[in-house]
Amino acid sequence: MFLFNKICYKHSTFLTMKSVLITGCCGFIGFHLAIRLLSQNINVIGIDSFSSSYDIKFKKIRHNILKKNKKYKLYKKDLSNINFLNIKKIDFIFHLAAEAGVRKSINNPLYYVEQNISNTIKIFEFARKHKIKKIFYASSSSVYGNNKSYPAREVHTLSKPLSVYGISKIATENIAYYYYKIFNINSLGFRFFTVYGPYGRPDMSIFIFFKSIFNKKKINLFNYGKNLRDFTFIDDVINYLDACLKKVKSKNNFFDVYNIGDEKSISVKELVKLIEKTTKNKAKISLKPKIKLDPEKSLAEMKKINKFIKNRYKTNFKDGIKKTSEWIFKNKKLFIS
Ligand SMILES: NC(=O)c1ccc[n+]([C@@H]2O[C@H](COP(=O)([O-])OP(=O)(O)OC[C@H]3O[C@@H](n4cnc5c(N)ncnc54)[C@H](O)[C@@H]3O)[C@@H](O)[C@H]2O)c1
Repeated sequence: MFLFNKICYKHSTFLTMKSVLITGCCGFIGFHLAIRLLSQNINVIGIDSFSSSYDIKFKKIRHNILKKNKKYKLYKKDLSNINFLNIKKIDFIFHLAAEAGVRKSINNPLYYVEQNISNTIKIFEFARKHKIKKIFYASSSSVYGNNKSYPAREVHTLSKPLSVYGISKIATENIAYYYYKIFNINSLGFRFFTVYGPYGRPDMSIFIFFKSIFNKKKINLFNYGKNLRDFTFIDDVINYLDACLKKVKSKNNFFDVYNIGDEKSISVKELVKLIEKTTKNKAKISLKPKIKLDPEKSLAEMKKINKFIKNRYKTNFKDGIKKTSEWIFKNKKLFIS
């Protein structure tokens, strides 16, 4: 219980809901969202296949924390068979399960079509069948692809995808629109910008850099470390989801898509320097040319969501890295190979 209480959040707004379904609840964002909901006495029904997208011990660790709460129930199943779930009453669906790695989509595009597009249709069909009218789902900053206009705004035309992953998230948003228009299923989609924090994904840059430094391994910096990323701290993401939920909980008609970022870009080179400082170790850096799949920059404009919720959440990057590194140091054995 100790760990569970430690990462419970202070704010509480999911109050009127009884049961929610979270797909991908043992993933990074799903786990933090589940913690928030459970701390507010909401039943969380989770589905997670423990896919092999990265080392499943991270998913097990998250699940082991969640299962300490009696209001949590996990179905360790693949979404492709969502019909196994015969649920009487779900108030809300958070659809977060997806194959989330961008670069891997280059070698296995059809897998991303199945995981991210087909499964999204299955979730919306499930909602339709069970008359669940409210869904929040994960989109991504990758929908902006090669867009050269910064900061990225929700009104920008999404015509320049750089990866099948990005294409799959554009499709996800279109699917949500279709189910809204034709079947009145309300939804909000969230374009997350590089989320990081405790219990984060070991396949993401921050964790790879820590791991490489601990193991004295080389760090490849593509585009010579000049790529700029808008890094978003997990607590901010959960606070935004929470605030949006509060806004829509009594609404019967809503549809929109929002950026969730930090409105600040940091170069990957700067990030490595910060991690060197934190670990008090020098990284072995190998500068590499640009990878076509990687946009040179990501930067969110947050006006739309800030206006919607009439608030702004913004963790200073250094503070976010400090909290993340404290967790990494406590769990250092996970990163030593
Ligand atoms: N973390 C980020 O920086 C980021 C940025 C943009 C978008 N997103 C999106 O946010 C969502 C959550 O991302 P995350 O970082 O928590 O990723 P994650 O990989 O940690 O979580 C996804 C979870 O979904 C599960 N899953 C995948 N396919 C499944 C299936 N077919 N059936 C059941 N479970 C399945 C995985 O086992 C995993 O636990 C994803 O949709 C991702 O594309 C994340």
